[in-house]
Amino acid sequence: MTGIAFLLNGTPVRLMGESPTRTLLDWLRETRGLKGTKEGCNEGDCGACTVIVTDGDGPKAVNACILFLPQVHGKAIRTVEGLAGPQGEMHPVQQTMVDHHGSQCGFCTPGFVMSMAAAHATGRRDHDDVLAGNLCRCTGYAPILRAAEAAATLPVPDWMAEDLPFFSDQISQGGSAQQTGGSAPPLLPRSSDELAAACLAHPEATLIAGATDVGLWITKQLRNLSPVIFLNSVADLQEIEHQGQSIRIGAGVTVEALRLAMQAPHPSFAELLRRYASVQVRNSATIGGNIANGSPIGDSPPALIALDARLHLRRGDDRREMPLEAFFLDYRKQDRRPGEFVEAVTIPATAPAFRAYKLSKRFDQDISAVCGGFNITVAEGRIAAARIAFGGMAGIPKRAAGAEAALLGQPWTEATIRAAMTAMAEDFQPLADMRASAGYRMRTAQNMLLRYFHDLAGQTVSVLEVAP
Ligand SMILES: Cc1cc2nc3c(=O)[nH]c(=O)nc-3n(C[C@H](O)[C@H](O)[C@H](O)COP(=O)(O)OP(=O)(O)OC[C@H]3O[C@@H](n4cnc5c(N)ncnc54)[C@H](O)[C@@H]3O)c2cc1C
Ligand code: FES
Ligand code: FES
Repeated sequence: MTGIAFLLNGTPVRLMGESPTRTLLDWLRETRGLKGTKEGCNEGDCGACTVIVTDGDGPKAVNACILFLPQVHGKAIRTVEGLAGPQGEMHPVQQTMVDHHGSQCGFCTPGFVMSMAAAHATGRRDHDDVLAGNLCRCTGYAPILRAAEAAATLPVPDWMAEDLPFFSDQISQGGSAQQTGGSAPPLLPRSSDELAAACLAHPEATLIAGATDVGLWITKQLRNLSPVIFLNSVADLQEIEHQGQSIRIGAGVTVEALRLAMQAPHPSFAELLRRYASVQVRNSATIGGNIANGSPIGDSPPALIALDARLHLRRGDDRREMPLEAFFLDYRKQDRRPGEFVEAVTIPATAPAFRAYKLSKRFDQDISAVCGGFNITVAEGRIAAARIAFGGMAGIPKRAAGAEAALLGQPWTEATIRAAMTAMAEDFQPLADMRASAGYRMRTAQNMLLRYFHDLAGQTVSVLEVAP
């Protein structure tokens, strides 16, 4: 591995010879002695390792424990050691944490202040969401939220703006010639053409996009992934294009970028993505990774299948596309050939009757027990088309074919919905595991269809709004 270059707390760094699967957290703590960034869970769950990564899109909070060094190539990193001003003056979020007693043992505090500072720099005020990925065992969240609210009224300090102009010209190219020694490292293709060539040359390579799955293969399973190809510098995979009646979403689009882009066309999808992990994970995880990993409990596939998404795959110069549901063959077995990669997914630009619901043990930062996507078209009082898909109900994200058949041509009434709920019992034999029993999964999936019926009728169905 050659030529990883980035800015660390305002100072340019160039690394040679580091393992491509060394995490930023390990490097900060072991090589740089920057131990303010803490290791808690080492799997993206607690936020103790939160740092700010700035690229052309601005500053973002990410978990350093599941971020590999090549992923920060061409970017600016700020750790808690770089949060205070040049004369040691506290950042506003540090000061308000002191003022509002937001810290006790202090282990979580560096992660909290980094999440708060990233949000402060971009003017975010949704503190509950911003801090959903940071865990504190001692203080209780009320003082921390009060500190975030108090800091929101204070100006962003000058020194926090230093990262962006320094790198902004070079970031989209993955760093300047001066920083990289004139060429990008070989494992970091910059375009999908380069990626296609790299995948053909190394069909055995592990592709790494956001590393929110792959990171754990290293930190928890201690696997050797060599060779690896990183996708995060492939600029043209990160585009969202509106193409007439459809929206093409590049595989490298992060879940957070997608959440923002879906707010207007598909607000229910955006709301589902708000409950996808945490800000830190959403800032790294990609839609391509969420599809390609073939997880039966990934949040985006049921929604995308209900939206009638088409998947675009590429191998060398060969491109093919398919309905997304056809990609999932069996448990963790996808229709992807060696050397092939997910290039994009296309969804309709509008789908007013589309809704998605996630059921998990915790509201925030939790994997789904059941996740459902619903899209039913009613014409002249009768059901003209129905797409219903679930995660958590089978070994793959799967359509409820029997329930859909029971709906087609029928009047749009609660009696029809209840008949489809009965038919759904034949569609799935769900697993029982630590998240939910088989019976609970089936009952809640059926009830989601009823919820959808009431939702389209304009009734309040959100768990945040339903009154006791
Ligand atoms: C704390 C935590 C919470 C989480 N919560 C959720 C949640 O609420 N909902 C949810 O759905 N998931 C959740 N996840 C899982 C994870 O975020 C997703 O699966 C994520 O979308 C993976 O995307 P990635 O870009 O990080 O993929 P990576 O980890 O980089 O890769 C995942 C897999 O996809 C392959 N891959 C990646 N991109 C491509 C491509 N373009 N073409 C072909 N193969 C590719 C990789 O080789 C690998 O096999 C969570 C993970 C963590 C750590
Ligand atoms: S150490 Fe827990 S999220 Fe990184
Ligand atoms: S202050 Fe102790 S974990 Fe938060």
